[in-house]
Amino acid sequence: MKVDAPIKTALITGASSGIGAATGRELAQRGLRVLLVARRQERLQALSEEIQAAGGQAQIIPADLSAPDERQRLFEQVQKMVGSPDVLINNAGFGWYGYYTQMPWETALEMLQVNVAAVMHLTHLFLPGMQARRSGHIINVGSISGSLPNQGIVIYSASKSFLDAFTTSLYRELFGSPLRVSVVRAGPVTSEFYQNARERPGGLPVPAERFAVSAEQVARSIGNLLQHPRRVVYVPGVLRLAPWLEILFGWVIDRLGPLLLKRYPHGADSHNDDK
Ligand SMILES: NC(=O)c1ccc[n+]([C@@H]2O[C@H](COP(=O)([O-])OP(=O)(O)OC[C@H]3O[C@@H](n4cnc5c(N)ncnc54)[C@H](OP(=O)(O)O)[C@@H]3O)[C@@H](O)[C@H]2O)c1
Repeated sequence: MKVDAPIKTALITGASSGIGAATGRELAQRGLRVLLVARRQERLQALSEEIQAAGGQAQIIPADLSAPDERQRLFEQVQKMVGSPDVLINNAGFGWYGYYTQMPWETALEMLQVNVAAVMHLTHLFLPGMQARRSGHIINVGSISGSLPNQGIVIYSASKSFLDAFTTSLYRELFGSPLRVSVVRAGPVTSEFYQNARERPGGLPVPAERFAVSAEQVARSIGNLLQHPRRVVYVPGVLRLAPWLEILFGWVIDRLGPLLLKRYPHGADSHNDDK
């Protein structure tokens, strides 16, 4: 007698655009039920309807992940809907470009809440359920700037370095158990990320993304990661050289770095004039 395997559920944060939306489509196509999380409800609703029209399963949970009580509410809602999800994809995040001292303090704190605290908090909330069930995979969407920190993105680089260290420590803690934890170190990706960074106050014009891969390429890597779990995946793969660049040529980047920001005066009132 054929017994159908239960459908797996993936909770995806930052699913209203870019990598998260592409990952929602990709995982739904691969037969997972996806729970889509972000602030913009209408975007989530449209994606959910698109996935369902294509024969997939999707539900939405609007939430602002910068707020601890919203993260707790999300957890409780997911418990009621599906119990413990099989997959947690911590993808929500944003960037800001400019001199650190020009970064509005509120933006720095918000970045820590979304890029760092939400990842910590959701992992802390959902991991025990996965441990009790003895299966689960947590995937954190990091960035190459976590291992190749850059001028102009001080807090962003630090937030993604945090994800690298957080994932590695947790991976080692869970080694030998059936649980999986991975970090995706992506290079530039075509999404709304750069436009959103441009629109935040106090920053310099964000340099255009060069050599960007598509959000769909990152989503495929995330899908493949579920089938072939690894601690780290680079997208594109050539970026596995990036940590070596930092080790071997970090001193060159130290000297070149300020030149890239010196086009703009320190303390200028408006940096976004050529948006
Ligand atoms: N684009 C790149 O070049 C690049 C490279 C490496 C890594 N990454 C990482 O990839 C991840 C996804 O970025 P993306 O490129 O797909 O950018 P994106 O298109 O701007 O998507 C960002 C997602 O995060 C969500 N988000 C932001 N703040 C949130 C909050 N307070 N609460 C809930 N959701 C929030 C946004 O949804 P709402 O606005 O609807 O809330 C959106 O769905 C980020 O972690 C980013 O750091 C991006």
